[in-house]
Amino acid sequence: MVQLDNFGGQVIAITGAGSGFGKLLAETLSASGAKLVLSDVNEEALRQVESALSDVHKALVCDVTREDDVVGMIGAANAEYGRLDILVNNAGLGSPPKLLTEVTEEELDLNYNVNTKGVFFGIKHGIRQMLAQDPKGGVILNVSSMAGIGGAPLLGPYAAAKHGVVGLTKTAACEFARHGVRVNAICPYFSPTPLVTQDEDFAARIKGMAANSPMARMGDPQEIVTVMLMLMSPANSFMNGQAIAVDGGMSAI
Ligand SMILES: NC(=O)c1ccc[n+]([C@@H]2O[C@H](COP(=O)([O-])OP(=O)(O)OC[C@H]3O[C@@H](n4cnc5c(N)ncnc54)[C@H](O)[C@@H]3O)[C@@H](O)[C@H]2O)c1
Repeated sequence: MVQLDNFGGQVIAITGAGSGFGKLLAETLSASGAKLVLSDVNEEALRQVESALSDVHKALVCDVTREDDVVGMIGAANAEYGRLDILVNNAGLGSPPKLLTEVTEEELDLNYNVNTKGVFFGIKHGIRQMLAQDPKGGVILNVSSMAGIGGAPLLGPYAAAKHGVVGLTKTAACEFARHGVRVNAICPYFSPTPLVTQDEDFAARIKGMAANSPMARMGDPQEIVTVMLMLMSPANSFMNGQAIAVDGGMSAI
C-alpha cells in the first residue's frame, strides 16, 4: 500500500511557519520523523510554535523578501541536516480590499515582494541546494491561491502576485524536472487563518462570499494542510508543474 504521509527522515523547510497553514503544517509534521526547518519574519510567533513542538527542530527568523535571509534558511537546513528534501514557500500576506483604481504603488509592491519575490528566492536557492546535494533532487511546494488562477475582485495586488507564483511554479517545474526536482503549487480558497480573521470587516465580507460558494463555507485550515501533505509527499512522484485548487468546488462554477 502506497503511503502518502511517510515523511520520516525528510528535511523539510517551511516559510511563514509562525501562523495559519505554515504553523498547522509544522505541528502536523512535527511527530512524523521529519526534520523541520521553520522560519517566519515574526520571531515571537515563531518561538511560540517552536516551544510548543515536542521534537527538537531548527527555527530561525527569515524575511522572505530578503535574499540573504532565504540563503541563510536553506544554509541552515544544510548545516543542520546535510540536505533539503522539501521546501514549502508558504509565507504570504494580503492587502486591504479595494478596486484597482484605488490601489497604491506601495500595496502593489508589498504584495509582489512578499508573495512573488519571496517565492522566487525560495525556488532559486532551494533548487540550488537540491541540485548540489547527493542524492540530488527534492520537492518545492508553493502556496498560491484561488486568486492565482482566477480574478479576485477587490484583491488586485494579491491576485497579480499569486498569479506570479503559478508562473514561477510551472517554469521551475519544466526547468528542473530532469534533475529530480518537482515543483507544484496549492491554490486554496478562503480559510479562517489570521490572514482572513484579523480584520473583522474583511472576515465578515469573506464569510459572506463563502456562503455563496458551492459548499457554502470556507475551507478548514486542516483541509488545506491535508492537500499540502499530499502534494509534498515523496510518493506523489509524477505530479509536477501543477496549480491545484482546494476550493470546495469554487473553480468549477
Ligand atoms: N487563509 C486563506 O484564506 C488563504 C487562501 C489562499 C492562500 N493563502 C496563502 O496561504 C499562505 C499562508 O497564509 P495563512 O492563511 O496561513 O496566513 P497567516 O497570516 O496566518 O500566516 C502567514 C505567515 O506568513 C508570515 N509572513 C508574512 N510576511 C512574511 C515575510 N516577509 N517573510 C516571512 N514570513 C512572512 C507571517 O508572519 C505569518 O506567520 C499565504 O501565502 C497566503 O497568501 C491563504
